Amino acid sequence: MQPTNALLALRLPLAQQLAIGQTLPFRYRRDGFVEQGFVLRRSDGFVAFANRCPHWNVDLDLGDERFYDPRVDRILCMNHGATFLPVDGTCDAGPCRGKQLERFVVTSVGGSLIVQIPDAEPV
Ligand code: FES
Repeated sequence: MQPTNALLALRLPLAQQLAIGQTLPFRYRRDGFVEQGFVLRRSDGFVAFANRCPHWNVDLDLGDERFYDPRVDRILCMNHGATFLPVDGTCDAGPCRGKQLERFVVTSVGGSLIVQIPDAEPV
């Protein structure tokens, strides 16, 4: 399938209701496949990442949509225990140390969050 080269601006109206430390998953289509990402609310704003571990290119959460552990302030990969800094998605421990989660730009517009996802289409 041809890459779309499109920038999907995905509106997430419910994300503003997240408490600090909570996440909200979202879906998009890329290269013909439905992919998942998630928004995390932090004390200083929102961050968004693809649900895709740079170690084995698989989902971080094993399907349970738990991405973040507030006790250690890290995003987790449930497959082999990698941890990622929530500020930028850099792996700070585990088999993919130094690699990064794909990070998406997040902006707040009129009470909604807009997540910008490159090369993607709506589901
Ligand atoms: S697949 Fe994520 S740490 Fe191995």
